[in-house]
Amino acid sequence: FESQVNEDYRPIYHFTPETGWMNDPNGLVYLDGEYHLFYQHYPDSTVWGPMHWGHAVSTDLVNWESLPIALYPDSLGYIFSGSAVFDAENSSGLGTDENPPLVAIFTYHDAELANTDSETFQSQAIAFSLDKGRTWEKYEANPVLPNPGIRDFRDPKVSQITNPDGSKSWLMTLAVLDQINFYSSPDLKNWSLIGVFGKNIGAHGGVWECPDLLPFKTPSGEDKWVLLVSINPGGPQNGSATQYFIGDFENGQFTPDDTMIRWLDYGPDNYAGVTYSNLPAEQNRTLFIGWMSNWLYANEVPTVAWRSAMTVPRELSLFDVNGTLLLKSAPALELEKLRSKEFLVNDQSSTLPSEAVEIAAEIESDSFTMSFSNVAGDSLILSKENGLVSIDRRKAGKSDFNKYFAAIHSAPMSWEAKEIRIFMDASSIELFVNDGELAMTSILFPSSPWQNVTVSENVDSLKIYKLKK
Ligand code: FRU
Repeated sequence: FESQVNEDYRPIYHFTPETGWMNDPNGLVYLDGEYHLFYQHYPDSTVWGPMHWGHAVSTDLVNWESLPIALYPDSLGYIFSGSAVFDAENSSGLGTDENPPLVAIFTYHDAELANTDSETFQSQAIAFSLDKGRTWEKYEANPVLPNPGIRDFRDPKVSQITNPDGSKSWLMTLAVLDQINFYSSPDLKNWSLIGVFGKNIGAHGGVWECPDLLPFKTPSGEDKWVLLVSINPGGPQNGSATQYFIGDFENGQFTPDDTMIRWLDYGPDNYAGVTYSNLPAEQNRTLFIGWMSNWLYANEVPTVAWRSAMTVPRELSLFDVNGTLLLKSAPALELEKLRSKEFLVNDQSSTLPSEAVEIAAEIESDSFTMSFSNVAGDSLILSKENGLVSIDRRKAGKSDFNKYFAAIHSAPMSWEAKEIRIFMDASSIELFVNDGELAMTSILFPSSPWQNVTVSENVDSLKIYKLKK
């Protein structure tokens, strides 16, 4: 394994681990000018195994510096997904008032116990760092939330809530089988159950994972909460996907506005995504990163030294379509920094300047097709026709590693498509319609780099940006 240096399909501007396996983003937290990205990681192989938290930081969300592994598995188990918060008031007592801690809240998965009849192999635990996330110490009295006798009990996402009396408390959103539990804590160490959500609502084709609870303002200025819930399997394109609920949240009770099933991204490859904590208030945004793969084939994709990339960072917000609220995922503004050269295309067809491009275009009369080709004869087709936005990757390169991979993925879009933005990298495409009112993410393994793009007549003002770090 160590001697393998094959870099085929390594993205240019998407985050990947230097070597080894990666899945979910974990512990997304901002502190002192740095965006931390921890991730589910198995350094010794390119397939899933004993989970660690890998670590990288960025000051601009575009250039990532890989740091040493933050959390290693130990006698209590593998380190599964979770979150990180800045405990500014040292409520945990794990730091000092002068040097308050970063606290990671994660799931211990006891793999040995999981192989027995026991149901209690997952529990929640914490670790802290007093040096901006460079080194971590596990809390001596872990777990902080023991297992109550439920097999699937994981992926704590913690945020700080300001109570009506002005005091603050910590809120944990936890995936429990195919429901969500909410817990409250004054100090990140003692947790009490305050609410449960999910029975008889939403998609239940698989287990619920990696939840996140987010406050938003609606376009008309109302307060609403959005609950993200990843589900595997049971997504709209087979396998993994992230659904979300819009509603009110008070005292541990999440009350959805309606029973509609909504998906964050209609492509096959955006899973287990969560948002940053502790962003400076002046950023005034909700920043999301997802894992760009699908459990259907994540362990089999044809990369050699490493497996999986993260999505580009996205800004989530609510928008309104004919009275229905939906969640929008727009590419983060920082991505514009990647544009190194701009090409205005006047023809229906153009060569591509690089494997890494952004394409922007206006759409007339609510339909388009855009197809990519390469010297190997592969093709990739994006379109909107009859209210369906599609990505056809059936002939887009290697797909024989898994029978589900070669497919057309379609999403209903009943309202008008006016413009599109596409982020293409060596092994992925992210399509944003109307700045993310509809998002579709798909990984691809073309036999040679995409070389040419051809568009239908109703595509206007076509711009291609060469992207470079
Ligand atoms: C989601 C997930 C989580 C779990 C982690 C294990 O992809 O299954 O529920 O914590 O991956 O690596």
